[in-house]
Amino acid sequence: MKHLIELNNIDKYYKGKNCDLHVLKDISLMINEGEFAAITGSSGSGKSTLMNIIGCLDIPDSGSYTLGGVNIMKTTDKKRAYLRNRKIGFIFQGFNLIHALTAMENVQLPLIYRGVPYRERQIAARRALRLVGLENRLDHKPYELSGGQQQRVAIARAIASDPPVILADEPTGSLDSQSGKLVLEILTALNHKGRTLVIITHDENVAALAQRRIYIKDGKIAASSDLFNNQRNMTV
Ligand SMILES: Nc1ncnc2c1ncn2[C@@H]1O[C@H](COP(=O)(O)OP(=O)(O)O)[C@@H](O)[C@H]1O
Ligand SMILES: [Mg+2]
Repeated sequence: MKHLIELNNIDKYYKGKNCDLHVLKDISLMINEGEFAAITGSSGSGKSTLMNIIGCLDIPDSGSYTLGGVNIMKTTDKKRAYLRNRKIGFIFQGFNLIHALTAMENVQLPLIYRGVPYRERQIAARRALRLVGLENRLDHKPYELSGGQQQRVAIARAIASDPPVILADEPTGSLDSQSGKLVLEILTALNHKGRTLVIITHDENVAALAQRRIYIKDGKIAASSDLFNNQRNMTV
């Protein structure tokens, strides 16, 4: 089986004043289509840096990265942006919604970047918002919504263009347990429908929902489990 995400011997440095910070060290990681993987590790271990690379927001300094058969190291910035828009739906801890825009408008943004015509965009955004249970909040702006609702708008934005991969960085980190539970139910349901889901979390209860856990310590993969955890009973 071909891996959807294939990282081989990745290194990443951040430039420092006196010396460079070696943030990711020889990371090799394969994720198959349809998998649900959790990347865990303490704060500062390199999780978000890894997510940025998987999401084509950043490139490694060495090693190789192939996404859906495309060698990311050899693409132009433009092609990388294109792949990001087509292949990846992002969800962040802080929701990252645009405050001046309504739920419908926020969800349509990736579709605008993709050049989807107005009417088609409206239908896709409405469908995505219905899927996350917000069909009656279409014209609300982020400040008129609870944190859990804002995260659901962000999920709708991530899935409106139907990308094969969903990357979520601490998606429940800013939410109360009830809202967090609902967000995880939506994400796991999306995985059951075939989307590849990668969640970055320091919450063991969230990680326990995944088929596979990858534990990062000091920029290295310290452990990786292929546990198939069938207890998807959402005890957050
Ligand atoms: N843009 C950046 N420039 C310099 N150092 C950074 C940058 N982003 C992250 N770092 C550093 O890299 C390390 C890993 O950060 P990060 O990937 O955000 O970890 P995590 O998401 O696991 O908390 C930390 O020491 C952090 O301070
Ligand atoms: Mg982080």
